[in-house]
Amino acid sequence: MASVSFRNVYKYYKSEKEPSVKDFQLEIADGEFLVLVGPSGCGKTTTLRMLSGLEEVSKGDIYIGSRFINYVSPKDRDIAMVFQNYALYPNLSVYENMALGLKLRKVAKHEIELRVKRAARILEITNHLEKKPSQLSGGQKQRVALGRAIVREPAVFLMDEPLSNLDAKLRAQTRAELIKMHGTLKTTTVYVTHDQTEALTMGTRIVVMKDGLIQQVDKPAVVYSNPNNMFVAGFIGSPAMNFIKGAITESSDEFFFENKRMRMRIPESYYPYIRKLNPNNLRSIVLGLRPEHVISERAEVNNFSEWKVNALIEIKELMGADTFLYLKLGEEQVISRIVEASEEYMPEEKLEVALQMDKAHFFDETTGNSICR
Ligand SMILES: Nc1ncnc2c1ncn2[C@@H]1O[C@H](COP(=O)(O)OP(=O)(O)OP(=O)(O)O)[C@@H](O)[C@H]1O
Ligand SMILES: [Mg+2]
Repeated sequence: MASVSFRNVYKYYKSEKEPSVKDFQLEIADGEFLVLVGPSGCGKTTTLRMLSGLEEVSKGDIYIGSRFINYVSPKDRDIAMVFQNYALYPNLSVYENMALGLKLRKVAKHEIELRVKRAARILEITNHLEKKPSQLSGGQKQRVALGRAIVREPAVFLMDEPLSNLDAKLRAQTRAELIKMHGTLKTTTVYVTHDQTEALTMGTRIVVMKDGLIQQVDKPAVVYSNPNNMFVAGFIGSPAMNFIKGAITESSDEFFFENKRMRMRIPESYYPYIRKLNPNNLRSIVLGLRPEHVISERAEVNNFSEWKVNALIEIKELMGADTFLYLKLGEEQVISRIVEASEEYMPEEKLEVALQMDKAHFFDETTGNSICR
């Protein structure tokens, strides 16, 4: 087991004008399950490949434990990788697929057997050890690929979208298995995904990236409840956070969020942040509200009566336990999440909703940065 340290790491591909990874700084603790998340092309795989040694570091240093590894060959880095394409050997049995790496490393036969059987138990594939990969489902194949990594007993696991070939149900199930596996083995893991649900559910910490730059590093709950900027706020959470443009105004020592459609009193807990700002910057503000903080259930709306606003239902989306209402507040579209909708809610219906301003986020429209930190 080991910690991992990235110090001011850059990647310049020759064909690219801009670096694909810029000034990447991160300390990963021993035993962490760290998730790199971000949209396609933001540099996740590149970062992982530099850690694996499959890609050269252009600038900066990478350490595994106390060992400087920029120039160490991949096979000597004490890492094991699992990719989206699990590439099992079709002619070998599951057992042989899992054992192959150890065999090549001249590990003793009884030790190989011990490790393969243990990994098979953790992944619940003991009954499939004699089968060929072609006799397995996609999810089982992916577990064999994981097994192949586990038996190596590496200091660090590197995983690049290992679940993206699986269907939704299997993905959720394998996700849970991976979390359980990490709970048992406690091996430091760096896990790449573009799926914010995977990031939120799996990571002990999440690194959100955009255009090669780290946007935020934090525990999932903190990234969700206290995003650094509009990008993180919009990327993490589904449906995405609602954004409404306006300004913060002051009258008789109180602050309001205001635009053509609404004037909402801002709770006092935000005042210290607002007072820190240059008043000029209060003119273009974006209010951010999670769908669960746009209240549409009539009984509850009255609990927030000072923050009521008129809305028009455009679309109703039934999602099982949750219902999403797509609402128009004037020109702005916002989504409201209702749990177990007891009321009808029909498209074209007018209703009063409440914006839960005590849960609001405020961003500087120009920089996109949160002003609440
Ligand atoms: N071998 C390469 N040569 C040149 N440019 C590359 C190479 N690999 C990646 N890039 C560029 O680097 C940037 C980051 O790519 P990377 O594969 O790291 O993104 P990613 O975050 O893993 O995206 P995805 O979610 O689509 O897998 C992209 O702009 C990509 O075009
Ligand atoms: Mg990738």
